[in-house]
Amino acid sequence: MKDFISIDKCSKGDLLELLELSKQLKQIDKLGGRDTCLPGKTLAMLFEKSSLRTRMSFQIAMTDLGGHAIYLKPEDIGVIGEREPAKDMARVLARYVHGIMARTFKHETIIELAKYADVPVINALSDYSHPCQAMADLLTINEHCGELDGLKVVYVGDGNNVARSLAFACAKFDMKFVVAAPKGYELDGESLDIANGITAGTASQLNDPVEAVKDADIIYTDTWVSMGQEDEKQQRIADFKDAGFQVNGELLSHAPGRVKVMHCLPAYRGMEITDEVAESECSIIFDQAENRLHFQRALLKKLMVRK
Ligand code: CP
Ligand code: NVA
Repeated sequence: MKDFISIDKCSKGDLLELLELSKQLKQIDKLGGRDTCLPGKTLAMLFEKSSLRTRMSFQIAMTDLGGHAIYLKPEDIGVIGEREPAKDMARVLARYVHGIMARTFKHETIIELAKYADVPVINALSDYSHPCQAMADLLTINEHCGELDGLKVVYVGDGNNVARSLAFACAKFDMKFVVAAPKGYELDGESLDIANGITAGTASQLNDPVEAVKDADIIYTDTWVSMGQEDEKQQRIADFKDAGFQVNGELLSHAPGRVKVMHCLPAYRGMEITDEVAESECSIIFDQAENRLHFQRALLKKLMVRK
């Protein structure tokens, strides 16, 4: 495993190892210890888009592991490939640093960086996927619900990058994944096929959120307007809100009492989730956010410690 770009391309063994390592490093952290396995190593962090959790957790993870991270903000790099080709950036950075993480609009940019950099490349969100988020989410679900196998995750909202990575992650761990999206905003058929190709019958989709949440262990949502879709904001809000895709108390009343609510954050309260639900007992959104840090440490250790 040189890079971490999309969960469907990772082996179950590697993903299991990452989850176990996340738990170990979290335990060490909670006991006040440190695993300084990356002394003198540098991670370049390229951001075409905004971030709070991803930037902070990668930067802190590198420091904790004894290394160092350099943040290149959207104003520094613009859209990768415009000032200079991604393949040139990849080869230059690989001469300076020991790992590259990138948050980009186009997924192909990350694939191009990985092709030309002979150091690990990590997908920190593209328009196609958000694999670090999905793995931190599995860690969180495991902590709250126990064994992953057989659990049902119902994703209510836009069939976007976060939904796609979750579909692949659930399929890898034999979990059921259901997307409830309004017509026109479903997860694409190719991604559902990839998930069902990993584990047959794992992923499905429907347009009725009430029906979808009936036997959910987890209800998951994300913004209706992802970064880069700002021009469609008003239309999207109307399409999701009017069709009843808000995660609110009424929707939760159709789910089992045990259900947990998740959101990758940032959350737009009053849009895809109400304040009441986000602050309720069933919300585990801040455990999710914390687990980004524990998963990031594990990922950096696995990819950047030279065997
Ligand atoms: N969930 C997530 O990736 O958050 P940021 O956009 O703040 O990094
Ligand atoms: N789907 C959102 C996730 C943000 C973490 C976006 O791409 O903007």
